[in-house]
Amino acid sequence: MSDPIPLMPDTSDSVGPALPGRVFVGTDKFATYEKLGADLIACAHDCVAKFGDFHFALSGGSTPFPFYQSLMTDPHYRSFPWTRTHLWIVDERRVPFDNALSNWGHIAQIFVGHSGIPDSQVHPMMATASDAAEQYEVLLHTCLGRRAPSEQRLDFVLLGMGDNGHTASLFPGTAVLDEQTKWVSYCDGPTVTPPPRVTMTYPLLNAARHVGVLALGVGKAEMIARVAIGKDDFHVLPILGVKPAEGKRGELVWYLDRAASTA
Ligand code: 6PG
Repeated sequence: MSDPIPLMPDTSDSVGPALPGRVFVGTDKFATYEKLGADLIACAHDCVAKFGDFHFALSGGSTPFPFYQSLMTDPHYRSFPWTRTHLWIVDERRVPFDNALSNWGHIAQIFVGHSGIPDSQVHPMMATASDAAEQYEVLLHTCLGRRAPSEQRLDFVLLGMGDNGHTASLFPGTAVLDEQTKWVSYCDGPTVTPPPRVTMTYPLLNAARHVGVLALGVGKAEMIARVAIGKDDFHVLPILGVKPAEGKRGELVWYLDRAASTA
């Protein structure tokens, strides 16, 4: 682990004010991971203090894995309240866990058996089941249902962004983008990177307390700039449908590095 990089202040100048929500641009990915981790652990302690638990939903893809690993190894996170944390999956590919494409297969290797999260609080998506989305939705309502109605929502959701503007497994031009009530559904079709998916939907994501979008590297810069211009509809760029702040009860933060924010 390199020495901590001086953190840049929160800034919305690097990409322009059009990115919805707050924008943090780290001098490099380590600074961005550090800011994301600081926000995550602060949210976790706040939720445990208020509700006795913390509901954290993780995305797959490649970008977040060094960050996930750091949560297990970096002394900064020694006080993380893992025993009170529920681990959720934002989306999953409909393959067995031992398939290299499985998000849970990779996430479990990092957190299960290393974090101290009780098995009863680790929630993989049984994505190969015919009723996978329905099963997961029941599990979410059961676990969140122990809270007061106004707080039955995810506390921290970490999203990525594909270079076509998808997030979670919400892909351009798919029916799930218009889901208004279900918290979990299915996504498949010509714009979906195979295999078919199970995914959290906008109703669940947009009810969350804190939604972070982690996008790093020059490969994300063009899409970040296009999102910042904001001329596209969310059916074209699904990341634009992520609006937790609309109900004034959540916040959206972009966690970028300089390479991703300078198209
Ligand atoms: C998935 C992810 C997906 C991911 C983006 C970005 O299951 O693939 O949930 O939404 O976050 O595709 O992926 P990278 O981080 O690899 O660019």
